[in-house]
Amino acid sequence: MNKLAFKNGDKIDAIGLGTWKSDAGEVGQAVKEAIKIGYRHIDCAWIYQNEKEIGDAFQEVFTADIVTREELFITSKLWNSFHAPEDVEKGLRETLTALRLDYLDLYLIHWPIAHKPGVIFSEDASGFATLDEYPIAKTWKAMEALVQKGLVKHIGVSNFNVPKLQRLMDIAAIVPEMNQVESHPLLAQNELFEFCSNNGILYTAYSPLGSRDRSPNMKGANEPDLFENKTLKSIATNHGVHPAQILIKWAEGRGTAVIPKSVNPARLKQNLESASISLSIDEMEQINALDKGYRFLDGKFWEREGGYYTAEMIWND
Ligand code: A2P
Repeated sequence: MNKLAFKNGDKIDAIGLGTWKSDAGEVGQAVKEAIKIGYRHIDCAWIYQNEKEIGDAFQEVFTADIVTREELFITSKLWNSFHAPEDVEKGLRETLTALRLDYLDLYLIHWPIAHKPGVIFSEDASGFATLDEYPIAKTWKAMEALVQKGLVKHIGVSNFNVPKLQRLMDIAAIVPEMNQVESHPLLAQNELFEFCSNNGILYTAYSPLGSRDRSPNMKGANEPDLFENKTLKSIATNHGVHPAQILIKWAEGRGTAVIPKSVNPARLKQNLESASISLSIDEMEQINALDKGYRFLDGKFWEREGGYYTAEMIWND
């Protein structure tokens, strides 16, 4: 499997385990199974509300000598309610306590969106804060301080576009080391990926399978089904694999990290084994041609009547 390298030489497996939407009662088992079969990169977040069960799973695999802490690469993300610089370490510490770890390998600002401190979700505009109140630049400085303290090895962002990355780079002492964004053949984000590559920012693809298990209120009408896509299906049939594996191989093959979510042992194995599929240049080109800038996570779920945040601002400003 491909590995991506940070500037200091640390490496991350291109294929990791996503844990968004992995429910309580399932996620611990899935993480243990994943680690047993060879996953070494686990992607978590405070807001997934399952870090405690994942932390217990980590302890079990450490105690059973299946893997050491140093062999795992563990990512988590700062939730929107901790953007005030004085709250950043608090947000991280809640994650570290839940995950039962004393450091993270990678910590990301989850969204370029601030909530008022203490507000986890808000149905109306009143729970949100503006980026003038909590500028990303100040949140970033507090992220940098976490590296100095040895609490996290690497820092980065999620859901950032080129202008937002550029503005952050202009003030950063530590250039963001990772940008985690939605990515699959319908949303290749070539320009963003190229910008990241040219600036030493690694790129992780989330929702690589189209995130079909999202709650209905996060789904659009008539969404495309990646598993039913004719091109992907025909390539999958030629290789005798599931279209999910072609999606994962495409992401790994183009040099990104990719974090498919599964809680099913057979699918966890399939997903990891995708690395050994060999796609021809022609097949890669056929998949590249599917790009149409289609987002499954369109960002509209951040819009509120009279609110500050719009999907347009998140993806384009
Ligand atoms: P499950 O967890 O039951 O395996 P994404 O990573 O884009 O968020 O997609 C996750 C969804 O894709 C989940 O519904 C997950 O179901 C499903 N999934 C994951 N791996 C596979 C696979 N190899 N084949 C079919 N479905 C998969």
